[in-house]
Amino acid sequence: MTIRKDKIAFFEKSLFDFFRKAGREHLPWRKKKITAYEVWVAEVMLQQTQVSRVIGYYERFLKQFPIVQKLARVSWEEFLPYYEGLGYYTRGRNMLETAKKVVKDYGGKFPRDKKLLETLPGVGPYTAAAIMSFAYGDDHLAWDTNLRRVIGRFFFGTKNFASVIPAYEPESRSRVPPKVGRQSGMTLKKLEEQFSLPAKTLNAALMDFGSALCVGRPKCEACALRNRCVYYREKGRQETVSSQQSTRLPARQAKNKGEDKKQDWKNAQVYVFLHENHRKYFSSSKRQFRPFVLPSGYNTRSGIKKYFQEKYQLTLSVRPPYKKESIKGKQIFFVNAQILLGEPVFRVFPKKPGKEYNNGY
Ligand code: ADE
Repeated sequence: MTIRKDKIAFFEKSLFDFFRKAGREHLPWRKKKITAYEVWVAEVMLQQTQVSRVIGYYERFLKQFPIVQKLARVSWEEFLPYYEGLGYYTRGRNMLETAKKVVKDYGGKFPRDKKLLETLPGVGPYTAAAIMSFAYGDDHLAWDTNLRRVIGRFFFGTKNFASVIPAYEPESRSRVPPKVGRQSGMTLKKLEEQFSLPAKTLNAALMDFGSALCVGRPKCEACALRNRCVYYREKGRQETVSSQQSTRLPARQAKNKGEDKKQDWKNAQVYVFLHENHRKYFSSSKRQFRPFVLPSGYNTRSGIKKYFQEKYQLTLSVRPPYKKESIKGKQIFFVNAQILLGEPVFRVFPKKPGKEYNNGY
Protein backbone atom coordinates (compact mmCIF):
# COMPACT_ATOMS: atom_id res chain seq x y z
CA MET A 1 0.00 0.00 0.00
CA THR A 2 1.29 3.43 -0.89
CA ILE A 3 -0.11 6.81 -0.20
CA ARG A 4 -0.36 9.20 -3.15
CA LYS A 5 2.34 11.87 -3.21
CA ASP A 6 -0.12 14.67 -3.85
CA LYS A 7 -2.17 13.59 -0.87
CA ILE A 8 0.86 13.72 1.40
CA ALA A 9 1.82 17.12 -0.05
CA PHE A 10 -1.68 18.46 0.60
CA PHE A 11 -1.64 17.07 4.13
CA GLU A 12 1.71 18.63 4.97
CA LYS A 13 0.92 21.98 3.43
CA SER A 14 -2.44 22.32 5.16
CA LEU A 15 -1.02 21.16 8.44
CA PHE A 16 1.85 23.61 8.19
CA ASP A 17 -0.58 26.47 7.44
CA PHE A 18 -2.50 25.54 10.56
CA PHE A 19 0.71 25.37 12.58
CA ARG A 20 1.90 28.80 11.42
CA LYS A 21 -1.39 30.35 12.45
CA ALA A 22 -2.29 28.38 15.54
CA GLY A 23 0.79 26.44 16.71
CA ARG A 24 1.63 26.57 20.41
CA GLU A 25 5.02 28.12 19.92
CA HIS A 26 4.75 29.85 23.29
CA LEU A 27 5.10 26.58 25.20
CA PRO A 28 8.38 26.62 27.15
CA TRP A 29 9.51 23.27 25.68
CA ARG A 30 9.07 24.59 22.14
CA LYS A 31 11.97 27.05 22.20
CA LYS A 32 14.20 26.92 19.12
CA LYS A 33 17.33 25.61 20.79
CA ILE A 34 16.45 23.03 23.38
CA THR A 35 18.61 20.41 25.05
CA ALA A 36 17.78 16.73 25.12
CA TYR A 37 17.50 17.01 28.89
CA GLU A 38 14.90 19.78 28.61
CA VAL A 39 12.86 17.79 26.07
CA TRP A 40 13.00 14.71 28.27
CA VAL A 41 11.78 16.59 31.37
CA ALA A 42 8.86 18.00 29.36
CA GLU A 43 7.91 14.64 27.92
CA VAL A 44 7.94 12.86 31.27
CA MET A 45 5.70 15.53 32.75
CA LEU A 46 3.42 15.67 29.71
CA GLN A 47 2.83 11.95 29.74
CA GLN A 48 0.66 12.24 32.78
CA THR A 49 -0.61 15.78 33.03
CA GLN A 50 -2.36 18.40 30.91
CA VAL A 51 -0.23 20.94 29.07
CA SER A 52 -1.63 23.90 31.04
CA ARG A 53 -0.73 22.31 34.37
CA VAL A 54 2.70 21.19 33.27
CA ILE A 55 3.97 24.68 32.36
CA GLY A 56 4.40 25.83 35.98
CA TYR A 57 5.94 22.54 37.11
CA TYR A 58 8.29 22.53 34.14
CA GLU A 59 9.61 26.02 34.73
CA ARG A 60 10.07 25.48 38.47
CA PHE A 61 11.77 22.16 37.87
CA LEU A 62 14.27 23.51 35.34
CA LYS A 63 15.05 26.51 37.52
CA GLN A 64 16.01 24.13 40.30
CA PHE A 65 17.63 21.46 38.11
CA PRO A 66 18.78 23.27 34.95
CA ILE A 67 21.12 20.50 33.85
CA VAL A 68 21.08 16.74 34.22
CA GLN A 69 24.17 16.78 36.48
CA LYS A 70 22.20 18.74 39.09
CA LEU A 71 19.30 16.34 38.99
CA ALA A 72 21.56 13.30 39.17
CA ARG A 73 22.94 14.48 42.52
CA VAL A 74 19.71 14.89 44.46
CA SER A 75 17.91 12.52 46.77
CA TRP A 76 14.27 11.52 46.44
CA GLU A 77 13.43 13.89 49.32
CA GLU A 78 15.04 16.82 47.52
CA PHE A 79 13.43 15.89 44.21
CA LEU A 80 9.89 15.34 45.42
CA PRO A 81 8.85 18.97 46.17
CA TYR A 82 9.43 19.78 42.49
CA TYR A 83 7.45 16.80 41.26
CA GLU A 84 4.75 16.26 43.84
CA GLY A 85 1.28 16.69 42.42
CA LEU A 86 2.15 15.24 39.03
CA GLY A 87 1.29 11.73 40.23
CA TYR A 88 2.63 8.45 38.87
CA TYR A 89 5.63 8.37 41.12
CA THR A 90 7.23 5.45 39.35
CA ARG A 91 7.97 7.95 36.62
CA GLY A 92 9.53 10.25 39.17
CA ARG A 93 11.77 7.44 40.40
CA ASN A 94 12.65 6.62 36.80
CA MET A 95 13.59 10.25 36.26
CA LEU A 96 16.17 10.14 39.02
CA GLU A 97 17.53 6.82 37.78
CA THR A 98 17.77 8.06 34.21
CA ALA A 99 19.54 11.25 35.27
CA LYS A 100 22.13 9.21 37.18
CA LYS A 101 22.60 6.85 34.25
CA VAL A 102 23.04 9.67 31.72
CA VAL A 103 25.74 11.22 33.90
CA LYS A 104 27.49 7.96 34.70
CA ASP A 105 27.28 6.17 31.35
CA TYR A 106 27.08 9.02 28.83
CA GLY A 107 29.09 11.83 30.41
CA GLY A 108 25.97 13.89 31.10
CA LYS A 109 24.71 13.96 27.51
CA PHE A 110 21.64 12.07 26.37
CA PRO A 111 22.84 9.81 23.53
CA ARG A 112 21.84 10.77 20.00
CA ASP A 113 20.66 7.25 19.31
CA LYS A 114 17.03 6.18 19.57
CA LYS A 115 17.81 2.62 20.63
CA LEU A 116 20.20 3.74 23.36
CA LEU A 117 17.69 6.27 24.62
CA GLU A 118 15.13 3.48 24.91
CA THR A 119 17.38 1.67 27.36
CA LEU A 120 17.01 4.50 29.89
CA PRO A 121 14.47 3.88 32.67
CA GLY A 122 11.04 5.18 31.70
CA VAL A 123 12.08 6.11 28.15
CA GLY A 124 10.12 4.29 25.45
CA PRO A 125 9.86 4.74 21.67
CA TYR A 126 7.68 7.83 21.98
CA THR A 127 9.92 9.75 24.38
CA ALA A 128 13.05 8.67 22.51
CA ALA A 129 11.57 9.93 19.22
CA ALA A 130 10.60 13.23 20.85
CA ILE A 131 14.17 13.71 22.11
CA MET A 132 15.67 12.73 18.75
CA SER A 133 13.47 15.14 16.81
CA PHE A 134 13.06 18.14 19.11
CA ALA A 135 16.60 18.24 20.52
CA TYR A 136 18.73 16.71 17.78
CA GLY A 137 16.62 17.50 14.70
CA ASP A 138 16.60 13.88 13.55
CA ASP A 139 13.71 12.39 11.63
CA HIS A 140 11.67 10.34 14.05
CA LEU A 141 7.94 10.74 14.44
CA ALA A 142 6.76 10.67 18.05
CA TRP A 143 3.67 8.46 17.84
CA ASP A 144 1.59 9.85 20.67
CA THR A 145 -2.22 9.71 20.70
CA ASN A 146 -2.46 12.90 18.64
CA LEU A 147 -0.29 11.62 15.81
CA ARG A 148 -2.10 8.31 15.76
CA ARG A 149 -5.51 9.97 15.69
CA VAL A 150 -4.72 12.59 13.05
CA ILE A 151 -2.77 10.35 10.68
CA GLY A 152 -5.10 7.43 11.37
CA ARG A 153 -8.15 9.49 10.45
CA PHE A 154 -6.76 11.39 7.49
CA PHE A 155 -5.06 8.50 5.68
CA PHE A 156 -6.90 5.42 6.94
CA GLY A 157 -10.30 6.69 8.05
CA THR A 158 -10.03 5.63 11.65
CA LYS A 159 -8.73 7.16 14.83
CA ASN A 160 -8.09 3.66 16.04
CA PHE A 161 -4.58 3.39 14.74
CA ALA A 162 -4.16 -0.09 16.18
CA SER A 163 -6.83 -1.41 13.81
CA VAL A 164 -4.82 -0.44 10.73
CA ILE A 165 -1.52 -0.97 12.46
CA PRO A 166 -2.07 -4.20 14.37
CA ALA A 167 1.39 -4.47 15.86
CA TYR A 168 1.14 -0.98 17.23
CA GLU A 169 1.08 -0.75 21.00
CA PRO A 170 1.29 2.39 23.08
CA GLU A 171 4.56 3.08 24.81
CA SER A 172 3.25 2.29 28.24
CA ARG A 173 2.50 -1.29 27.29
CA SER A 174 5.23 -2.18 24.90
CA ARG A 175 8.82 -1.43 24.13
CA VAL A 176 8.47 -2.99 20.71
CA PRO A 177 8.49 -0.34 17.97
CA PRO A 178 5.13 -0.14 16.23
CA LYS A 179 4.61 -1.52 12.74
CA VAL A 180 1.96 -0.64 10.24
CA GLY A 181 -0.54 -3.38 9.34
CA ARG A 182 0.89 -6.53 7.95
CA GLN A 183 -1.96 -6.82 5.45
CA SER A 184 -1.13 -3.47 3.90
CA GLY A 185 2.57 -4.21 3.81
CA MET A 186 3.12 -0.73 5.17
CA THR A 187 5.48 -0.15 8.05
CA LEU A 188 5.68 2.85 10.27
CA LYS A 189 9.13 3.49 8.88
CA LYS A 190 7.77 3.54 5.30
CA LEU A 191 4.99 5.84 6.36
CA GLU A 192 7.47 8.18 8.06
CA GLU A 193 9.67 8.27 4.97
CA GLN A 194 6.88 9.68 2.83
CA PHE A 195 6.77 12.97 4.70
CA SER A 196 8.95 15.89 3.67
CA LEU A 197 8.62 18.25 6.61
CA PRO A 198 11.27 17.81 9.32
CA ALA A 199 10.00 15.47 12.05
CA LYS A 200 10.46 18.24 14.60
CA THR A 201 7.90 20.40 12.76
CA LEU A 202 5.58 17.51 11.96
CA ASN A 203 5.55 16.30 15.55
CA ALA A 204 4.74 19.71 16.98
CA ALA A 205 2.18 20.54 14.28
CA LEU A 206 0.41 17.18 14.64
CA MET A 207 0.31 17.46 18.42
CA ASP A 208 -1.23 20.93 18.17
CA PHE A 209 -3.64 20.02 15.42
CA GLY A 210 -4.66 16.89 17.32
CA SER A 211 -5.37 18.80 20.49
CA ALA A 212 -7.13 21.75 18.83
CA LEU A 213 -9.24 20.36 15.96
CA CYS A 214 -8.78 16.67 15.37
CA VAL A 215 -9.82 15.87 18.92
CA GLY A 216 -11.90 12.93 20.20
CA ARG A 217 -15.02 14.58 18.79
CA PRO A 218 -13.39 16.18 15.78
CA LYS A 219 -14.21 19.72 14.76
CA CYS A 220 -14.41 18.84 11.08
CA GLU A 221 -16.39 21.95 10.15
CA ALA A 222 -13.37 24.09 11.10
CA CYS A 223 -10.80 21.82 9.45
CA ALA A 224 -9.06 22.78 6.21
CA LEU A 225 -8.00 19.18 5.59
CA ARG A 226 -11.45 17.67 5.64
CA ASN A 227 -12.10 17.36 1.91
CA ARG A 228 -9.28 14.89 1.50
CA CYS A 229 -9.65 13.25 4.87
CA VAL A 230 -10.80 9.61 4.64
CA TYR A 231 -12.50 9.81 8.01
CA TYR A 232 -14.49 12.93 7.11
CA ARG A 233 -15.56 11.46 3.81
CA GLU A 234 -16.68 8.20 5.33
CA LYS A 235 -17.98 9.09 8.76
CA GLY A 236 -17.08 12.55 9.92
CA ARG A 237 -19.76 14.24 7.84
CA GLN A 238 -22.61 12.37 9.52
CA GLU A 239 -20.96 12.42 12.94
CA THR A 240 -20.40 16.14 12.87
CA VAL A 241 -24.03 16.68 11.99
CA SER A 242 -25.32 14.28 14.63
CA SER A 243 -23.08 15.76 17.31
CA GLN A 244 -24.61 19.15 16.52
CA GLN A 245 -27.99 17.64 17.25
CA SER A 246 -26.25 16.70 20.48
CA THR A 247 -26.33 13.39 22.14
CA ARG A 248 -24.25 14.72 25.03
CA LEU A 249 -25.42 15.02 28.62
CA PRO A 250 -26.69 18.47 29.44
CA ALA A 251 -24.16 20.42 31.51
CA ARG A 252 -26.19 20.24 34.71
CA GLN A 253 -26.47 16.50 34.56
CA ALA A 254 -22.72 16.23 34.02
CA LYS A 255 -22.12 18.37 37.08
CA ASN A 256 -24.40 16.23 39.22
CA LYS A 257 -22.40 13.20 38.24
CA GLY A 258 -19.30 14.72 39.84
CA GLU A 259 -21.17 15.62 43.00
CA ASP A 260 -22.56 12.12 43.37
CA LYS A 261 -19.07 10.77 43.22
CA LYS A 262 -17.90 13.01 46.04
CA GLN A 263 -20.93 11.96 48.03
CA ASP A 264 -20.07 8.30 47.40
CA TRP A 265 -16.67 8.84 48.97
CA LYS A 266 -18.10 10.54 52.03
CA ASN A 267 -20.57 7.76 52.75
CA ALA A 268 -18.14 4.93 52.15
CA GLN A 269 -15.92 3.11 54.57
CA VAL A 270 -12.37 3.36 53.28
CA TYR A 271 -9.81 0.57 53.55
CA VAL A 272 -6.33 1.80 52.78
CA PHE A 273 -3.67 -0.62 51.61
CA LEU A 274 -0.31 0.88 52.15
CA HIS A 275 2.68 0.21 50.00
CA GLU A 276 6.07 1.06 51.21
CA ASN A 277 7.75 1.93 47.97
CA HIS A 278 6.97 2.14 44.33
CA ARG A 279 8.39 -1.22 43.42
CA LYS A 280 5.82 -2.92 45.60
CA TYR A 281 3.11 -0.51 44.49
CA PHE A 282 1.62 -2.82 41.94
CA SER A 283 2.82 -5.90 43.69
CA SER A 284 0.78 -9.00 43.13
CA SER A 285 1.24 -9.78 46.81
CA LYS A 286 -0.68 -6.73 47.94
CA ARG A 287 -3.58 -8.83 49.20
CA GLN A 288 -1.38 -9.92 52.06
CA PHE A 289 -1.39 -6.44 53.54
CA ARG A 290 -3.81 -5.58 56.25
CA PRO A 291 -5.93 -2.56 55.53
CA PHE A 292 -6.06 0.60 57.55
CA VAL A 293 -9.69 1.29 58.28
CA LEU A 294 -9.99 5.02 58.47
CA PRO A 295 -12.16 6.86 60.97
CA SER A 296 -15.10 8.68 59.41
CA GLY A 297 -14.23 12.23 58.47
CA TYR A 298 -11.07 11.08 56.74
CA ASN A 299 -12.72 9.13 53.97
CA THR A 300 -11.76 11.19 50.98
CA ARG A 301 -8.49 11.12 49.09
CA SER A 302 -7.28 14.33 50.71
CA GLY A 303 -8.62 13.10 54.07
CA ILE A 304 -6.53 9.94 53.79
CA LYS A 305 -3.43 12.01 53.06
CA LYS A 306 -4.16 14.31 55.97
CA TYR A 307 -4.69 11.40 58.32
CA PHE A 308 -1.38 9.75 57.53
CA GLN A 309 0.49 13.02 57.55
CA GLU A 310 -0.82 14.02 60.96
CA LYS A 311 -0.80 10.63 62.65
CA TYR A 312 2.33 9.08 61.18
CA GLN A 313 4.22 11.95 59.46
CA LEU A 314 3.98 10.07 56.19
CA THR A 315 3.39 11.73 52.84
CA LEU A 316 1.23 9.53 50.65
CA SER A 317 0.12 9.30 47.09
CA VAL A 318 -3.45 7.99 47.19
CA ARG A 319 -4.94 6.22 44.18
CA PRO A 320 -8.62 6.14 43.25
CA PRO A 321 -10.39 3.06 44.66
CA TYR A 322 -9.45 -0.11 42.80
CA LYS A 323 -12.56 -1.89 44.09
CA LYS A 324 -15.92 -0.88 45.53
CA GLU A 325 -17.99 -3.41 47.40
CA SER A 326 -21.22 -3.29 49.29
CA ILE A 327 -21.03 -5.29 52.52
CA LYS A 328 -24.07 -5.39 54.80
CA GLY A 329 -25.46 -2.32 53.12
CA LYS A 330 -22.25 -0.34 53.61
CA GLN A 331 -20.13 0.76 50.67
CA ILE A 332 -16.48 -0.20 51.09
CA PHE A 333 -13.80 1.48 48.99
CA PHE A 334 -10.51 -0.35 48.61
CA VAL A 335 -7.74 2.13 48.10
CA ASN A 336 -4.05 1.70 47.35
CA ALA A 337 -1.65 4.28 48.69
CA GLN A 338 2.05 4.62 48.32
CA ILE A 339 4.44 6.11 50.84
CA LEU A 340 6.33 8.94 49.15
CA LEU A 341 8.15 10.37 52.12
CA GLY A 342 8.76 9.28 55.71
CA GLU A 343 9.52 6.12 57.58
CA PRO A 344 6.61 4.00 58.74
CA VAL A 345 6.73 3.31 62.48
CA PHE A 346 4.58 0.24 62.03
CA ARG A 347 5.44 -2.83 60.05
CA VAL A 348 3.76 -2.56 56.72
CA PHE A 349 4.86 -5.75 55.07
CA PRO A 350 5.09 -9.19 56.51
CA LYS A 351 8.68 -10.38 56.55
CA LYS A 352 7.63 -13.63 54.98
CA PRO A 353 4.49 -14.28 52.98
CA GLY A 354 1.66 -15.15 55.30
CA LYS A 355 3.39 -13.94 58.47
CA GLU A 356 1.25 -11.70 60.64
CA TYR A 357 2.34 -8.17 61.33
CA ASN A 358 1.19 -5.20 63.23
CA ASN A 359 0.09 -2.24 61.18
CA GLY A 360 -0.50 0.09 64.08
CA TYR A 361 -3.87 -1.01 65.38
N1 ADE B 1 5.61 19.53 22.44
C1 ADE B 1 6.53 18.60 22.57
N2 ADE B 1 6.06 17.50 23.17
C2 ADE B 1 4.76 17.79 23.45
C3 ADE B 1 3.72 17.08 24.06
N3 ADE B 1 3.92 15.86 24.53
N4 ADE B 1 2.52 17.67 24.16
C4 ADE B 1 2.35 18.92 23.70
N5 ADE B 1 3.28 19.64 23.12
C5 ADE B 1 4.49 19.08 22.99
